[in-house]
Amino acid sequence: MGFALFGTIFILSSLFLKSTLGQQQEQQQSMANTDEFFISHFFEKMGINSSSSSHVYNLSSSVCSWESVFCDAKQENVIGLIAPNLGLTGPIPDNTIGKLKKLQHLDLSTNQITDFPSDFWSLVSIKTLNLSNNKFSINLPSNIGNFGLLERLDLSFNNFSGSLPDSFTSLASLQVVNLNRNQFDSIIPLGITSCHSLISIDLSCNSFHGSLPHGFDTAFPKLKSLNLAGNGIKGRGSDFSKMVSITYLNISNNLFKGSVVEIFQGPLEVVDLSSNQFEGHISKVNFSSTFDWSHLVHLDLSDNQISGQFFSDLNQTHNLKHLNLANNRFSKQTFILHIHELHGLEYLNLSKTNLIGRIADGITMLTRLKTLDLSNNHLAGKLPVLSFKTLQNLDLSNNNLTGDIPMSLLQKLPWMERFNFSYNNLTLCDSEFSLETLRSAFIGCSNSCPIAANPTLFKRKTHRHRGLELALALAITLVCLLVALLLCAFGCRRKTRMWDVKQESCNEEHTISGPFSFKTDSTTWVADVKVASLVPVVIFEKPLLNFTFSDLLSATSNFDRDTLLAEGRFGPVYRGFLAGGVHVAIKVLVHGSTMTDHEAATELEHLGRIKHPNLVPLMGYCLAGEQRIAIYDYMENGNLHNLLYDLPLGVQVTEDWSTDTWEEEANENGIQNVGSEVLLITWQFRHKIALGTARALAFLHHGCSPPIIHRDVKASSVYLDYNLEPRLSDFGLAKIFGNSVDDETTRGCPGYAPPDDTITPKSDVYGFGVILLELITGKKPVGDEYPDDDNSKAPNLVSWVRGLVRMNRGSRAIDPKIRTTGDEGQMVEGLKIGYLCTADLPAKRPSMQQVVGLLKDIEPLRASEEI
Ligand SMILES: *[C@@H]1O[C@H](CO)[C@@H](O)[C@H](O)[C@H]1NC(C)=O
Ligand SMILES: *[C@@H]1O[C@H](CO)[C@@H](O)[C@H](O)[C@H]1NC(C)=O
Ligand SMILES: *[C@@H]1O[C@H](CO)[C@@H](O)[C@H](O)[C@H]1NC(C)=O
Ligand SMILES: *[C@@H]1O[C@H](CO)[C@@H](O)[C@H](O)[C@H]1NC(C)=O
Ligand SMILES: *[C@@H]1O[C@H](CO)[C@@H](O)[C@H](O)[C@H]1NC(C)=O
Ligand SMILES: *[C@@H]1O[C@H](CO)[C@@H](O)[C@H](O)[C@H]1NC(C)=O
Ligand SMILES: *[C@@H]1O[C@H](CO)[C@@H](O)[C@H](O)[C@H]1NC(C)=O
Ligand SMILES: *[C@@H]1O[C@H](CO)[C@@H](O)[C@H](O)[C@H]1NC(C)=O
Ligand SMILES: *[C@@H]1O[C@H](CO)[C@@H](O)[C@H](O)[C@H]1NC(C)=O
Ligand SMILES: *[C@@H]1O[C@H](CO)[C@@H](O)[C@H](O)[C@H]1NC(C)=O
Ligand SMILES: *[C@@H]1O[C@H](CO)[C@@H](O)[C@H](O)[C@H]1NC(C)=O
Repeated sequence: MGFALFGTIFILSSLFLKSTLGQQQEQQQSMANTDEFFISHFFEKMGINSSSSSHVYNLSSSVCSWESVFCDAKQENVIGLIAPNLGLTGPIPDNTIGKLKKLQHLDLSTNQITDFPSDFWSLVSIKTLNLSNNKFSINLPSNIGNFGLLERLDLSFNNFSGSLPDSFTSLASLQVVNLNRNQFDSIIPLGITSCHSLISIDLSCNSFHGSLPHGFDTAFPKLKSLNLAGNGIKGRGSDFSKMVSITYLNISNNLFKGSVVEIFQGPLEVVDLSSNQFEGHISKVNFSSTFDWSHLVHLDLSDNQISGQFFSDLNQTHNLKHLNLANNRFSKQTFILHIHELHGLEYLNLSKTNLIGRIADGITMLTRLKTLDLSNNHLAGKLPVLSFKTLQNLDLSNNNLTGDIPMSLLQKLPWMERFNFSYNNLTLCDSEFSLETLRSAFIGCSNSCPIAANPTLFKRKTHRHRGLELALALAITLVCLLVALLLCAFGCRRKTRMWDVKQESCNEEHTISGPFSFKTDSTTWVADVKVASLVPVVIFEKPLLNFTFSDLLSATSNFDRDTLLAEGRFGPVYRGFLAGGVHVAIKVLVHGSTMTDHEAATELEHLGRIKHPNLVPLMGYCLAGEQRIAIYDYMENGNLHNLLYDLPLGVQVTEDWSTDTWEEEANENGIQNVGSEVLLITWQFRHKIALGTARALAFLHHGCSPPIIHRDVKASSVYLDYNLEPRLSDFGLAKIFGNSVDDETTRGCPGYAPPDDTITPKSDVYGFGVILLELITGKKPVGDEYPDDDNSKAPNLVSWVRGLVRMNRGSRAIDPKIRTTGDEGQMVEGLKIGYLCTADLPAKRPSMQQVVGLLKDIEPLRASEEI
């Protein structure tokens, strides 16, 4: 009984089991033939994890609801699989997508797929096949010919190699073919000429070679875009002459030759013929033919051998945005652009096109320009004002351009990324550029210093308390000045004119009472200036002030001895007030006559642009007869030499070596800013003078390319301005005198001249080192007492201090006047900097930039900060 029951249960349960098993098998068998199965199988085999990529496929929902799958209306068959960028890896397995009989659109781009399955070629419904950017490294099977309905084929960015199968013959529906960036290395098969529906062909960046197949030019009546760039295809311009619907033609980097003439046909918008062997006379390109040049947006003929002149007809290309004619064999032509017709240009490259003359002014009207390359031509003259704000890339290298690079050029261009002014005669000076920029973008500039002011340098820190007062005083002064100028404008002019009239009758008298009773024999030079009121004085900052030489005469009472400040090495210096109360020092450069007027003016203009808070600014100049007259801001507080050695006011330095400098005789009232003598006996103030002077030299050396070498760095060249800021003077004058002055002038003063003879920035470093030693020791470079323990009298300051520093006894050299006013350790460090600067070997001396850094390290705290 019990057994029977057990037996029944067993039978029943086994029956049940059988039936469920059967159901499962049936289910699997039915699924095995559905698109659903092929698709999920595909994802599974291609390494997609269903739980981590549930957004791609979710096994618990129907395949047709998956993101990448598109089914037909009945939700039975998959017609589209759009699965780019999913990390699909390896060969496509059999029994997956090859079985999707109704598949029309397949996009597996940007994956890691390496091969086709054998059943792939039965996808006879396929219209779009995108396998771009995968890892196919095989020959393209000729089975591709099975896809008779294929409209778009994209195999770009793979590694397909070998020949392109001739079975393309069967692809009668093909509209787009893109094989860009593969390794095909055959001729282009004749079969492709059967693809009459083609609209776009891109075979670029392969190794196709040979000529285009016969009939290629007439095979594609709908062709709009053809890119054969970057192959080795041979041919001629006429190969494209029958492509009447084409708008994009790119055959760059091939072996096409012959005349470019026939190419320009139909509605072409983009033409890239660069890097071929096209030749012939460009003017034979029939700009007045039926070809409508106004369609053209992009024209690149660069790197060919085209000759002739190209400018005459370019004016018809109204819509051109990109024009590159670089590196051809054009004949010499002036740069005339009918620019107003080309106002849409964004890219203009005329590098190496044999341009002569000036840069067309019209260029300033190209307000959309982003790239301008005029390098490697023979362009001369000055730069036009390139004020287009869009400019990003400017290359003017290897020309013959002259003059200054207007700072505004670079400042007003917010997008500028790259510029190159190398190998011109251009000048610029701006410490805002990194050294690297100066080195790479201003290679081979002329030896005249590139100069321009860097406005950021003028934003100097105002002194806490004094600053405010000064600012106020300055503002009031400025307002007064302005009012005075306005009031004066008429009055002064009238006066001047009256004076002119008088002057003519007094010429003789002037000559007699001339200023040059001393060594120069220029007594007649004032008389040589025929009509003083017609000789202009150039005042850089105030071009509207119409000063003339006669104003200088009246300012100095005809260069009267009473206004003589000094007899400098370069000539006498006078003091005067110009109309409006502008206090100036007027330097008559007696040796200046070796330069032509033009050269002198150019040089003085350059000097006028050098602006730095620690340089004495050149305000203007005047070329009067043989004389070059430089006009400087008057420095109220005298020079360091006089201040340091407590010279009685109004007395000239008498040492032999310094008589040939223009010592500024302190005016009647002596030092105007009472207190500079007092200040000068503090370490803090002396350090300030050292740092300011170092900054000035660092600017001349490192802010300019090529550097300006001062050549005459000495204590009497360092002045104190109204605000007691140190200012270096006389920079650049050595150059104006050039070789005409005897060596002594150019070599510098005894005590300041380095032992080596060659003039480099490092000679200035030496001179600066001497000043630094003077500031700390209070002793003159030569001819002073240099107490020494060893009784071996040191001949000069440098050898004395160097000896002490070497023996670690630097502190003995410190000026007793300042010893207690600050940290003695800093002063000793200062002597060590001076030691470095005065090294015998120029290479061992630090650069001025380094000196500035070293001096900043030993900067004493301000009195207010010490509290
Ligand atoms: C699938 O992804 C999940 C979650 O990222 C992970 O835990 C699982 O191991 C993965 N399975 C396979 C077969 O990679
Ligand atoms: C998968 O689909 C089922 C049914 O549509 C749904 O309930 C589930 O949340 C889905 N899973 C994920 C991870 O999306
Ligand atoms: C193929 O896919 C790539 C990347 O997704 C896309 O950029 C390209 O336009 C597609 N090609 C065609 C012919 O649609
Ligand atoms: C491309 O194919 C060539 C052979 O046709 C092979 O030498 C090369 O390594 C392949 N490059 C890549 C990136 O697969
Ligand atoms: C021509 O094709 C090359 C290679 O694909 C490409 O680098 C270049 O930008 C194309 N020129 C134009 C004008 O599209
Ligand atoms: C240039 O075009 C004009 C106008 O279509 C035509 O008369 C002339 O013959 C053409 N010249 C050449 C050299 O093709
Ligand atoms: C283009 O310039 C030439 C002279 O160089 C002139 O004859 C022609 O009329 C100009 N064409 C247009 C459209 O401005
Ligand atoms: C101008 O064209 C030449 C020759 O094709 C090229 O070498 C140079 O890089 C181009 N300049 C710019 C700024 O694109
Ligand atoms: C540059 O200009 C000078 C002076 O005008 C001239 O002598 C020289 O030949 C020019 N150099 C070049 C490369 O055009
Ligand atoms: C710079 O100008 C000088 C003189 O004017 C000239 O000899 C020289 O060739 C010019 N430099 C360049 C690079 O054209
Ligand atoms: C500027 O042009 C010169 C000469 O062609 C070249 O040596 C230098 O590398 C270029 N500099 C930059 C920044 O492009």
